[in-house]
Amino acid sequence: MFFCDLSMKRTLVLGLLFAFLPAHADSEAGKRKAEVCAACHGADGNSATGEFPVLAGQTARYLYLQLKDFKEGRRKEPSMEPMVEKLSREDMLENTLSSSSRLSRRARAPTTRAA
Ligand code: HEC
Repeated sequence: MFFCDLSMKRTLVLGLLFAFLPAHADSEAGKRKAEVCAACHGADGNSATGEFPVLAGQTARYLYLQLKDFKEGRRKEPSMEPMVEKLSREDMLENTLSSSSRLSRRARAPTTRAA
């Protein structure tokens, strides 16, 4: 009886663990995928140079449609094409939904040109 109880408990604990692990692994993978983007677009989406567009403050819909266009070849740019190559539709949705709610636009100091 004791052993029976124990193995049932163990099954339950293992079952819960396995139910939880994949979801956790997914969000970790999602975060890692977004780290690549920070190299050019900045950790908070406010890229440091004008070379890379600021993603902060854009809507999820806008960001998603841009990624989709890069992926499907309607928008062409050599830095972005390899970035979206391995992303699935779900990755792109997850990435842009979490970015648009997390990143807020920071005011940039006006740049002055040397005359
Ligand atoms: C090597 C640098 C680099 C990396 C890394 C990079 N990007 Fe970009 N990204 C760019 C450049 C350059 C552009 C502007 C392309 C253009 O002018 O058409 C751009 C444009 C974009 C745009 C369109 C923005 C707009 O305002 O139209 C989105 C959205 C975007 N990137 C998302 C991402 C995401 C998400 C990742 C990570 C998966 C990522 N980028 C990684 C360089 C990069």
